[in-house]
Amino acid sequence: MSADTPRSLCWIDGRVVPSDEARIPVVDHGLLYGDGIFEGIRVFSSRVFRLDRHLARFAAGARAIGLSIPGGVSAAREIVLETARAYASPEAYIRLLATRGEGELGVDPTTCRTPRLLCLIGSVRLYPEAKLRSGIDLVTASVRRPPPDVLDPRIKSLNYLNNVLAKLEARRRGADEALLLNAAGAVAEASVANVFALRDGALLTPPGSDGALEGITRGTVLELASELGIPAHERTLGRFDLFSADEVFLTGTGAGLVPVRGLDAEVIGSGAPGPVFEKLRNAFAAAAAAPDLGVPFAGPETPDAAPRNP
Ligand SMILES: Cc1ncc(COP(=O)(O)O)c(C=O)c1O
Repeated sequence: MSADTPRSLCWIDGRVVPSDEARIPVVDHGLLYGDGIFEGIRVFSSRVFRLDRHLARFAAGARAIGLSIPGGVSAAREIVLETARAYASPEAYIRLLATRGEGELGVDPTTCRTPRLLCLIGSVRLYPEAKLRSGIDLVTASVRRPPPDVLDPRIKSLNYLNNVLAKLEARRRGADEALLLNAAGAVAEASVANVFALRDGALLTPPGSDGALEGITRGTVLELASELGIPAHERTLGRFDLFSADEVFLTGTGAGLVPVRGLDAEVIGSGAPGPVFEKLRNAFAAAAAAPDLGVPFAGPETPDAAPRNP
């Protein structure tokens, strides 16, 4: 962290405090059982990027695990904006969480009285700058993404052990990132990012039903591809599709758009970020800086400042 990076902050119990001062009781089921949900959200150019899409996914995850967000989505939205205002940085990473709250020891969530909202803000960097320029190396993880009837990967829950184990394996094997397959052996996603492959001029990404989180960055990239006239489809992909692709890249809120250099020690395409990736990365940077996809946190929201297509 550089001297001019603000200290990370946390909204907790109605106020924003330095995050190393924020405390939750050890009997919160978010800690005891990973019982809760979260969102990773970016601030670009003093606006909260695609805030309403993040909140819609947060609400859908809450419904899927039977958790009611205290004050509803509108309260969560206000908390995110208040936290961003307190941090007062034009660029930031926000982590909004809802835990099941304090309860008895024992997995039963009905012992928990009130869900707890928390909102952290700071900065995040998942890969070294040099790797973002040259491309990262993936290995196929031996752990699989759980099928939807075990734990639906479309729920962005506080239970990330599957992702953690995949990432740990990748790092121990000298790679930057893990490729996770689903139980049928099809490509699902990376540990905290979606996967795209360019084959025969078309951009392909696995559907949510193959074990991919329906990423907000992924959705934005699909929209930008269509604006740029690049054919783009959801499609089931195998490792073969990645080995034989011209380009592969990852997308995520924390990760950004990340070129992939190789998979399981095989070089993909030219082994350097490809022209379609570069086009999309530039288009994404322009969309991130544009006013219409973000909600301003400084000052009141005016009709003109409100996002057209959040
Ligand atoms: C498992 C997983 N897949 C994909 C993504 C990418 O989704 P988004 O673009 O909404 O950040 C994330 C979050 O960053 C994630 O945790």
